Amino acid sequence: MPKLVIEGAKQLNGEIKIQGSKNSVLPILAATIICDDECIINNCPDLLDVHTSIEILKYLGCKIKFENSTLAVDPRSINRSDIPEYLMRKMRSSIIFLGALLSKSGNAKLSLPGGCELGPRPIDLHLDGLRQMGFIIYENHGYIECKSKYKLPGCNITLSFPSVGATENLILASVKSSGITVINNVAREPEICDLINFLNKCGAKIKGAGESTLLIEGVESLHSAQHSIIPDRIVATTYMSAAAITGGTLLLKNISVKELDSIIPIFEETGCLINKKSESALYIESPSRLYPNKLIRTMPYPGFPTDSQPLIMAMASVANGTSVFVENIFENRYKHVGELLRLGADIKIEGKVAIVEGVKRLSGANVTSTDLRGAAALVISGLAAEGITTISDVHHIDRGYESIEKNLKSLGANIERKN
Ligand code: UD1
Repeated sequence: MPKLVIEGAKQLNGEIKIQGSKNSVLPILAATIICDDECIINNCPDLLDVHTSIEILKYLGCKIKFENSTLAVDPRSINRSDIPEYLMRKMRSSIIFLGALLSKSGNAKLSLPGGCELGPRPIDLHLDGLRQMGFIIYENHGYIECKSKYKLPGCNITLSFPSVGATENLILASVKSSGITVINNVAREPEICDLINFLNKCGAKIKGAGESTLLIEGVESLHSAQHSIIPDRIVATTYMSAAAITGGTLLLKNISVKELDSIIPIFEETGCLINKKSESALYIESPSRLYPNKLIRTMPYPGFPTDSQPLIMAMASVANGTSVFVENIFENRYKHVGELLRLGADIKIEGKVAIVEGVKRLSGANVTSTDLRGAAALVISGLAAEGITTISDVHHIDRGYESIEKNLKSLGANIERKN
């Protein structure tokens, strides 16, 4: 199993172009199966999760071409509406194919998605919404079978929590209904807006992107479209954190600055100077020692993203004072803390709350990746730590980061992948 080996305490400086968003491309790839013709997806990141989606698309019968960040999906030869357990288990977000398959063929049979590192991740909101739309759902021996006998007339649904995945599944399942579907209290993440923009390019009629209520007027069919994936705001935050923790400077290109609105004040609180160069570029200059963050509470968008919590915690671990984190989205999103302690961090957890006393220096150690963003936090901490940090289970990182060691090396990091 490959490992990442980092010789830390080296300042990072330079510029970096940010990849397309993982959380955007995965639902869009699922959406391509609803279309009647080939779709071209540009700025597609080359990630483990994208390859898992490709495997699912091929299993369903799609023809795929993936070259130079452009992915072509031809769904014309789709000949099935089931996804077997071995594919569903590879990636939690495989569940997004449920809504897409229902729009494609009116029925779907798939196993429950794989277990998750972030604690229990039920899909009750997805299934409740689909039932309200009129789908009949059978749950049996870990499989879900979902169908409708006729075209569904549309309905009014209110989500009890603005779940990202449930919002995506319900959008996908309703685009071809015979009436109007209204969904209240939806998630408003930029990645959901990207999905809606893609579907509308294909001929869907969805209003309300970025707002709490969506109005989806069903259409007969979806045609082909070409679409460029939005930049990955969590990857942008990762590289900003890497620069900040090493006292470096970084120019980020190919980002959407407005989507970093909830993150920029957090960096400014730590003493980083942020200069918005344009709508798509930002410069960060960090102090020799970071200040702590008083209180960081993860919230649904536009609040502070849960995916960034481990990244900012890595920075807080060497800040000059005490930072407090409250994790409101996932029950078990502090698994990286045990590994940060091995690097010399001083962190205490009580339920949802983590209290981080910044230490002067982290020191290199052997650590294990626990989940995607937790693994990224270990890379960030390793870059700051004195000596050698070895990170195992790097497949977690490869799920969401394209060429991470090449990118960090270009900024001056000493990082290698070793078998
Ligand atoms: C998505 C993102 C993930 C991000 C998360 C929150 C993708 C591929 N993943 O995950 O990176 O961390 O949003 O911003 O886009 N819940 C239920 N019942 C449900 C659905 C969700 O109880 O049916 C709970 C979950 O257990 C969790 C919370 O709601 O505690 C948030 O989940 P959700 O917004 O659905 O996140 P995901 O779509 O799984």
